[in-house]
Amino acid sequence: MVRPWTLRPATSADAPWLIDLKAAAMRPDLERVGRWDADRSRRRFLEAYVPANTDVIEVDGRAVGSVAVRPEHDAQWIEHFYLDPQLHGRGIGGEVLRHVMAAHRDARPFRLVVIRGSAARRLYERLGFVHAYDHDNGVDEILDAPGGGYLLDNAQAEAGARFGALAELFDPSTFRHFDALGVAAGWRCWEVGAGGPSVPSWLAARVGPAGRVLATDIDVAWLDPGAGYEVLRHDVGAEPPPGDGFDLVHARLVLVHVPRREAALAAMVSALRPGGRLLIEEADPMLQPLACPDESGPAQRLANRLKHDFRTLMAGRGVDLAYGRKLPRLLREAGLTEVAADAYFPVTGPACDRLERATVEQIRARLTAAGLATDEEIDRHLTNLDAGLLDVATSPMVSAWGVRPG
Ligand SMILES: C[S@@+](CC[C@H](N)C(=O)[O-])C[C@H]1O[C@@H](n2cnc3c(N)ncnc32)[C@H](O)[C@@H]1O
Repeated sequence: MVRPWTLRPATSADAPWLIDLKAAAMRPDLERVGRWDADRSRRRFLEAYVPANTDVIEVDGRAVGSVAVRPEHDAQWIEHFYLDPQLHGRGIGGEVLRHVMAAHRDARPFRLVVIRGSAARRLYERLGFVHAYDHDNGVDEILDAPGGGYLLDNAQAEAGARFGALAELFDPSTFRHFDALGVAAGWRCWEVGAGGPSVPSWLAARVGPAGRVLATDIDVAWLDPGAGYEVLRHDVGAEPPPGDGFDLVHARLVLVHVPRREAALAAMVSALRPGGRLLIEEADPMLQPLACPDESGPAQRLANRLKHDFRTLMAGRGVDLAYGRKLPRLLREAGLTEVAADAYFPVTGPACDRLERATVEQIRARLTAAGLATDEEIDRHLTNLDAGLLDVATSPMVSAWGVRPG
């Protein structure tokens, strides 16, 4: 799909028209709260305008808006986010902001100020922003979105190794569930947050040419559109479902990372045909929080401490560490019938080691940046792992399934 908009770096020469645009975009909200003052609006813009932090949004070669990202040590502030009011309602603002957030994503949360009651809040909510605190001016509120958004970022080199290890560990159990649910030739399937290719490939082979498999993810870099399934970049927490009438909708280790996971679950249920099956598989780290349940010495203690630190990072980004156990209830509350669940728990093995290594490598910089672990500790842990000193377990994986009535 060709984007209808582009971004270019802003310059100081853009300031005059941006002041006018800010006035046009903000005036109705500011008037509503009794704070409209043209001079003040201009002055505040000039005080805060840093062209190096700012992009100009262009549509058909015409400058129509702006967005800035101001880095602070504890957050990245989204500022000067204005769009020509004539272009509101076309999805451009949401697309631009999603793009800018993806480009700047790191461990820090995104943060912004919105006037209470503003229509813009809905757009921000769709992108995962939630209320953080009220401004003491009584009019503004501050919203936050998890920065890493998704802590285990697919773009990093270790993602491939992680997907490989996840497939080795959990595909056999997932495929047993598909079999039990009756997945067969001709089925239409939506694989949500597919990550790597193993699950959509298996489904494509099972449903055959008469069926259809759609694999979606916020990062589709690891999927192969030529491999018998369709690939679509899609945010399950922020966008409407990419189709309906599916016989099977499946997500594994996805919902727990989605800030608006209730909306995501509802979207997945709504995409099923009556009688269609939903299979959701999520870890429940708090059911078994240790890396080495057999904590027999210092190597195991270090492994368990690093696992604890990893969970601290995940929890700080809004990951629900006891989500797996809630799935049967959530599926029933979403209107499904014949709900049941089980759990699969690899206790140790080469694939557990590979998953542990790939995960630790992937989050190493964030663990050290947060002061939770030193490079020396992480290296020592990886050496222990390679030396075969550790029986590393994974978190139990809860699989829950149900049927859309009708
Ligand atoms: C832990 S991986 C699991 C991948 C795969 N389902 C598996 O089990 O091997 C989580 C996946 O969810 C994707 N993801 C995270 N947030 C998402 C969102 N809001 N919408 C769609 N996919 C998302 C990530 O990009 C990543 O590929």
